[in-house]
Amino acid sequence: MTVNDTAQACAAYVRKAHAGPMPTTAIILGSGLGAFADSIDAAATIPYSDIPGFPRSTVAGHAGRLIVGAVDGVPILCMQGRMHLYEGYSAQTLAIPIRTLKLLGVETLVLTNAAGGLLKDKPAGSLMVIEDHINFSGANPLIGENDESVGPRFFDMSNAYDRSLRQSMMAVAQQQNIDVFSGIYVQVAGPNFETPAEVKMFAAMGAHAVGMSTVPECLVAVHCGMRVVGVSLISNLAAGISTNPLSHEEVFEEAQKAEGRFTRLLVSFLKAKNEDVAAGR
Ligand code: HPA
Repeated sequence: MTVNDTAQACAAYVRKAHAGPMPTTAIILGSGLGAFADSIDAAATIPYSDIPGFPRSTVAGHAGRLIVGAVDGVPILCMQGRMHLYEGYSAQTLAIPIRTLKLLGVETLVLTNAAGGLLKDKPAGSLMVIEDHINFSGANPLIGENDESVGPRFFDMSNAYDRSLRQSMMAVAQQQNIDVFSGIYVQVAGPNFETPAEVKMFAAMGAHAVGMSTVPECLVAVHCGMRVVGVSLISNLAAGISTNPLSHEEVFEEAQKAEGRFTRLLVSFLKAKNEDVAAGR
C-alpha cells in the first residue's frame, strides 16, 4: 500500500464515522496541549487505533484521537496527539495523517508543539508564532516516488508558514493581550534533548526554538497545497541555556500551565479566520 492508498482508506473510514460536512481547517495538538480539545463541541471522536492504517501516538500526553466538531461555532478537525520520528515511524508514515486530512477537504492546517527555547529572554511559558523552520531531523516524508496528482516533485517552501495567517495570529494575540513573538523552529529527530553544544549551534544558525515534531507535517501539507500556520509553546529553555536538567515532566507541566492562554489564542485565531472567510476576505 502506498501512503496515498492508506490515506484513502483512512479518509473513507472517517467519512463513515462522521457523515456530516467536514471542517476545512484542522489543528494538530502537541505535547500536553490536549486541553484545547476539551473546548471542542464534538460531533465525532475517533481513536486513531480505530482508523485502519492510521499511525498511533505512543507518547504520554498524546491522547491519540481525531475529533470532528466546532469551537465557538467554528468547524474544526482536531488531531489530539501526534506521531513523531523518535517513536520509530518512518518519515513516510508521518505523511499518512496529513494526506488523510487533505482527502477530507482540509485547506488550512494549524500546527502546535512544545519546544525548547533558544532565547534567554523568552522563558518557559512564552508563545512563538513559527515564521519558518530548519529541518535538522535528517528525515523527509516526501523522499520516494512522487505522485504528481498530489503535488510536484520539487516544491517551493518560501512561504511555508503562510504570511497572512501568521500576521492574523500576531494581530489576534495583540487584541487578546497575549504575548507572542515570531521565530524560527528547528527540528531534531530526538528522542534525547539536545546537548548544550548542539543548542549553541542551533542558536548560531538563527533558530529560536528547538523541538521534535512539526516539520514533517508542514512539508507534507505544503506539498499538497495546504496553508500552514504554527505556534510553539516554549516549555523550557533548551539545554545549557537552562541551568536545570530537562525532563518530559517539565515540558508537560509548563504546557499545562499555558494551556488556557494557548487555547484562547487558538480559538480567537480560528474565529477571526472564520469571520474573514464569511466576509469573503
Ligand atoms: N528540545 C527538544 N524538544 C523539546 C524541548 C527541548 O528542549 N522541549 C520540548 N520539546
